[in-house]
Amino acid sequence: MSKDAYTLTGPDGKSTTLPVHKGTLGPDVIDIGKLYKEQGVFTFDPGYVATGSCKSDITFIDGDEGVLLYRGIPIEQLAQNSNFIEVAYLLLYGELPNKPQLDAFDTSIRTHTMLNEGMLRFFNGFRYDAHPMAMLSAVVGSMSAYYHDTMDVNDPGTHDIFTHRILAKLPTIAAAAHKLTAGQPFVYPRNDLNYTENLLHMFFAVPAETYQINKIAAQALDLLFILHADHEQNCSTSTVRMAGSSGANPYSAIAAGIAALWGPAHGGANEAVLRMLEEIGDARNIPKFVARAKDKSDSFRLMGFGHRVYKNFDPRATIIREMCHKVLAQMGRTDTPMFDLALALEEIALKDEYFIEKNLYPNVDFYSGIIYKALGIPTSMFTVMFAIGRTVGWVAHWREMITDPALRISRPRQLYTGPVQRNYVHLNKR
Ligand code: CMC
Repeated sequence: MSKDAYTLTGPDGKSTTLPVHKGTLGPDVIDIGKLYKEQGVFTFDPGYVATGSCKSDITFIDGDEGVLLYRGIPIEQLAQNSNFIEVAYLLLYGELPNKPQLDAFDTSIRTHTMLNEGMLRFFNGFRYDAHPMAMLSAVVGSMSAYYHDTMDVNDPGTHDIFTHRILAKLPTIAAAAHKLTAGQPFVYPRNDLNYTENLLHMFFAVPAETYQINKIAAQALDLLFILHADHEQNCSTSTVRMAGSSGANPYSAIAAGIAALWGPAHGGANEAVLRMLEEIGDARNIPKFVARAKDKSDSFRLMGFGHRVYKNFDPRATIIREMCHKVLAQMGRTDTPMFDLALALEEIALKDEYFIEKNLYPNVDFYSGIIYKALGIPTSMFTVMFAIGRTVGWVAHWREMITDPALRISRPRQLYTGPVQRNYVHLNKR
């Protein structure tokens, strides 16, 4: 039953009325803003399991029903009918664009793809085996050393140019990281190509040959970027909001988000899934790995399974699973051992009591790596691909946060469990 307020009575009998805010969808939230002032206590919720950190109009998830909406539109409809640039516009500006709006946005993204040449030289300084996520977060952070005209976060007039620049340049930076790893020369962007075609061109073209864009690969990447574009207050988005709440420049805030995404519990899971499938190797070994995942004394988890919010199928995983079939077939792959192994693992895990009881279903990262691999993208680049898609979500949240008149610096409180006050002891007495 929905209520307008909750009353909390402390041990001394003093009561505080806590207002309840109602969203358009999802559970109501209790506003605890005056709790400390009136009751002298904080709330405690490590990992923010039951805490809303902000108001947002962008994305809605119903984890029990497996629903994901971007600005109210179901992900299935966007995956079926839209493209990444249109979805990016929707997330950023709140509405689907009309034709002139879409054309203007697309042109702006296409014409901001080049990097300052000085930034390209950074890549010479990285070790040959640097992880591409390390390069991505470093180079995106360094954009604040180049694009000074978009550093005043209080000037909304600069937000569009920052947005278009970062969306346009992310694929160029990612491709430069890939080329360093591959030991190949950097390939400059081509603005006559669309977003994903240009990415494939920068990834796979070499000066010695003419590169033919693989349309199936470009469409598959476009769909993956739509599915990854936003996911409300996840770890990396919350990191962007938290870093940005201090007034830090937006490039630094996005670089912080990239760093958060890298972790294996978050975007790094797509790379971890592939490595896990390689380690499992054969369907006969699956029971051994499932047993390890259930063993509390073993830190191993089934990567690509489980989600903080989805306690049902992740709708993105359902779309990607279907897409795996299509992409592999269209690429002429009849022998698909990695995909077959993933299907077998999914089947066994979904029948297992432990996974049923804990509502652990495959998430977005379980199948995406199989597609990336089929497209020839190296395993260490998988999380970079996720970052390219998610950047628009980070930017949409940063823009929403920075223009919110109620913005305050994010500054959580704590339950202190260290020593009580004690005196300094001089070295000769220790
Ligand atoms: N394998 C085995 N057990 C698991 C798994 C798993 N993949 N995920 C959760 N559990 C168990 C966990 O041990 C715990 O058991 P118990 O209640 O007995 O202690 C219970 O399920 C709840 O797990 P939790 O860690 O408290 O849940 P969480 O909401 O804090 O974590 C998660 C969510 C996604 C980090 C976690 O499910 C996980 O580590 N999954 C594997 C990594 C992964 O695939 N991450 C990608 C997430 S989706 C894309 C993204 O966010 O970027």
